[in-house]
Amino acid sequence: MNQAFYEISKVSNFFSPQKIVLGQDAVKEVGDEVKSLNGSKAIIVTDPGIVSAGYVKLVEDALHAAKIEVGSFDRVEPEPPARIVGECVKMIREGKYDVVIGLGGGSSLDIAKGAAIMANNPGTIADYAGIDKVPRAGLPKILIPTTAGTGSETSRSLIVTDERDNTKKSIASSFGIADVAILDPLLTLSMPPQVTANTGMDALVHAIESYVSATTTPFAEILAIEAISLIAHNLPLAYSKGSNVIARYNMLLAASIAGLAFASSRLGIVHGLAYVIDTEYHLPHGRANAIMLPHVMNFNKTGNLRKFAKIAEAMGENVEGLSMYKAAEKSVEAVENLLNALQIPFKLSQYGISRDDLPKLVEGGMKQARLFIPNPRDVTPEDLKSIYERAF
Ligand SMILES: [Fe+2]
Repeated sequence: MNQAFYEISKVSNFFSPQKIVLGQDAVKEVGDEVKSLNGSKAIIVTDPGIVSAGYVKLVEDALHAAKIEVGSFDRVEPEPPARIVGECVKMIREGKYDVVIGLGGGSSLDIAKGAAIMANNPGTIADYAGIDKVPRAGLPKILIPTTAGTGSETSRSLIVTDERDNTKKSIASSFGIADVAILDPLLTLSMPPQVTANTGMDALVHAIESYVSATTTPFAEILAIEAISLIAHNLPLAYSKGSNVIARYNMLLAASIAGLAFASSRLGIVHGLAYVIDTEYHLPHGRANAIMLPHVMNFNKTGNLRKFAKIAEAMGENVEGLSMYKAAEKSVEAVENLLNALQIPFKLSQYGISRDDLPKLVEGGMKQARLFIPNPRDVTPEDLKSIYERAF
């Protein structure tokens, strides 16, 4: 079943970093990349785990070798609140840094993006929630992921928790795109199996949501279907044998092209329904997405049977001779098999979440209505309730 046509012909945009450096030891290029951005003093934005893994030292050494001055901000927290951006900006201004280097998982990369933006803009980062609300370009930024999932290194959005109403806010702006993304699979080898599984599933959700998005673009479709296939074929191995560089390389590539895809297509209600779960119950973002994915696919599949059938095929299912409907159903089965292989339970009750919380979940899901527009199927509050109910 080859791609025979792309679904839209209206004007669409494709966004990407100016440069992507990919491969083993790519991190050693960071000094030259700072110079190519006319930088002389770089700040590394990261978290304490990355410092103890020795990756900060690796980047510092590469920068010193290129005679770049360097400092580090290592106070990024998981699911970071907007205030961390403010703290980082203070350090950037006081130290007169001219290039921001994000190093770590999605949280570190997002804080790096936010801080680079806010170094040249007034207010707080949460004031710019929405699409293209940031008035001025920030400092140049280089993003170096140590997980394969978030896609932050290639996307134009960042997510922070707005402490004012305890909700996740998404800031999508061309000023959020990396100048340079450095993808070095050796920096992802130390991810433990659970983190590999959670972040890898986040990437799969990005790819699937981009592919079936009602606002998808041809570029997003091309990249997303390839990412789906790469993840289905490499994530079980990266999870089972973390030292396998080829599996890690392919996962890093997949997560990054899924990031390019959703930068152009936008995401759907898997993210919408998962945000309330990760915020309320403090589950990792990728895990919350993984739990909701099969339930949302079940709901969404009638919105684009052809594409869900193609997802099944990309994930290695045999759909020969099946009706379009049966083939589409196979995509849900393929995702459930993958989740079982990664030992990720996908029932909310298995995470101690009570059915009594349903109204709170539905209310939280409704706050993400911006994600209903790209979703391939229209959504009502009753629909949200029945998807959550089936997830118990
Ligand atoms: Fe995500």
